[in-house]
Amino acid sequence: MAVSARDRLIVALDLPGVAAAEKTVAELGEEVTFYKVGYELVLAGGLDFAASLARSGKKLFLDLKLHDIANTVAHATERAAALGATFLTVHAFPATMKAAVEGRAKSKLKLLAVTVLTSWNDADLQESGYEIGVRDLVRRRAEQAAVLGIDGLIASAAEAAELRRVVGRSMLIVTPGVRPAGSEAGDQKRVMTPAAAIQAGADYIVVGRPIIGAKDRKAAARAVVAEIESALK
Ligand code: C5P
Repeated sequence: MAVSARDRLIVALDLPGVAAAEKTVAELGEEVTFYKVGYELVLAGGLDFAASLARSGKKLFLDLKLHDIANTVAHATERAAALGATFLTVHAFPATMKAAVEGRAKSKLKLLAVTVLTSWNDADLQESGYEIGVRDLVRRRAEQAAVLGIDGLIASAAEAAELRRVVGRSMLIVTPGVRPAGSEAGDQKRVMTPAAAIQAGADYIVVGRPIIGAKDRKAAARAVVAEIESALK
């Protein structure tokens, strides 16, 4: 079934507490169907809130970027599925991805792999002992993710088109670092508009501050959905 423009927008609830998150979700109302909850909110008591969000019918993307011994990753993934999450991120190390696929079992949870953090460059990889550059590592990990049964990839808009060529239509591509035309880039360096990201091959886009920090959050979300819609035509 085709995913609507509205359902392709994931709003990042990067907020310091549950009260702020509840207020934001209430304000956005029907305009937003999918939310990403990450470390900041989870560590501020937001895990129960995230579960209740999923129970209320919203889709939940748990951005926990798991990476640990296989046993821990498998059990943590199982818990994320039980919590009602739709998406969960894991780092794209083969052993970690394998464990997550095992933990997900027959649940509806979709696993997204973070190939290489977009804040990393070749020098960071070299400093960490890798003899491979970002571009090649992203490619290799994307191929491994596909083989291991991972459902999708987190990719910057700049990487999306190339990754689409690597994995074809077999995987979801979820793209953060998206900025509607005319909004502040903040600390995101390689930004694209929602329309450009969709055209580059993204299935879902993640938007945080341009919506969360807007005076009229609902209008900001509506504008992003309209941009996605125009790109899908
Ligand atoms: O506020 P902004 O739109 O920049 O938020 C982007 C969200 O996507 C944040 O929650 C951030 O953690 C996440 N993210 C990202 N870049 C990545 C991976 C995730 O900005 N490469």
